[in-house]
Amino acid sequence: LQAEFDLGLREASTPEELEDLRLKWEGRKQGRLTLLSSLWLKEAPAEKKKEIGQRFNALKDHIVSELQRAAGSRGQNVLDAEAIDITQPGTRRRLGAEHPLIRTWNEIVKIFQAMGYSVGVGPEVETDYYNFESLNFPPGHPARDTQDTLVITGQERKPLRDRLLMRTHTSPVQIRTMEQQPPPVRIVIPGKVHRNDAADATHSPIFHQVEGLCVDTNITFSDLKGTLDHFMKALFGSSVKTRFFPSFFPFTEPSADVQISCPFCGGKGCRKCKYSGWIELLGCGMVDPAVFGFVQQKQPAYDPKKISGFAFGMGIDRVAMMSYGISDISLMYSGDLRFLEQFA
Ligand code: PHE
Repeated sequence: LQAEFDLGLREASTPEELEDLRLKWEGRKQGRLTLLSSLWLKEAPAEKKKEIGQRFNALKDHIVSELQRAAGSRGQNVLDAEAIDITQPGTRRRLGAEHPLIRTWNEIVKIFQAMGYSVGVGPEVETDYYNFESLNFPPGHPARDTQDTLVITGQERKPLRDRLLMRTHTSPVQIRTMEQQPPPVRIVIPGKVHRNDAADATHSPIFHQVEGLCVDTNITFSDLKGTLDHFMKALFGSSVKTRFFPSFFPFTEPSADVQISCPFCGGKGCRKCKYSGWIELLGCGMVDPAVFGFVQQKQPAYDPKKISGFAFGMGIDRVAMMSYGISDISLMYSGDLRFLEQFA
């Protein structure tokens, strides 16, 4: 029997085989040792009992100690195999890449932070009041049609001003900021906006804007021009020029659209600027006194006789696409690794 056990022990090479062997010999119900003691030892004639008992105990001691020794040394093997050699160089894990949109977003924010601006946020689900009315788009005003709005259904029983919609621009956060804080204000608000636009290479129903707002005593159109000119030079390079064209927004007066000289061809004309030498990038203007009027319902300090301000709004996606040569906006929202890995 001992020889049979020793052979089994030599042949058991894995922890599983060792466990099978242990059960075969030491198992409490069907193990050989149990059977031996209950059948064989008990049935032995009285005069042989002593000798058989001794031989049984010797066999049992041998099996128990050999199995323990085997388990111990196999255990050591497992520890050896799992030991960590701390002198080996580590395995490098690939880092994720910053999304081009977020990279552009951060670059823009940083430039304004360096000019003393803080960063604000506001809700993407807005009320009609903040998205339109307080920005001087009265109910039924045709300028509302310039922003194809996605509305939340089932609110027909509420007064118009309380009805919810997906914000079409970041401008409502101008109002929310001023309601929370008396002047002076210098803030940029990057964020997601939504419009009911059909998707194509340059349009997506979701896109991003960064809003800027500066309110203080004696803020003039020159401050607006100087701030945006500095911003464009910081973002695109110091040789970039800006020019302002008359425009219209209900919440600014006067309003302007801003173009920059094409940073790719230096204004000579190339594909990126459609051979015009100029690229239109944002809308801006002096905060309309009517907007301060709405804010004054909560913050009387916004008295248009004492303070003035400028605001601007710019699409982030378009800047990112231009900077990184991305021709289709849907790539920005695809999550396609083949696209994203190019920015690692
Ligand atoms: N909110 C405007 C838009 O989405 C942009 C803008 C912001 C214009 C601030 C002027 C001042 O078109």
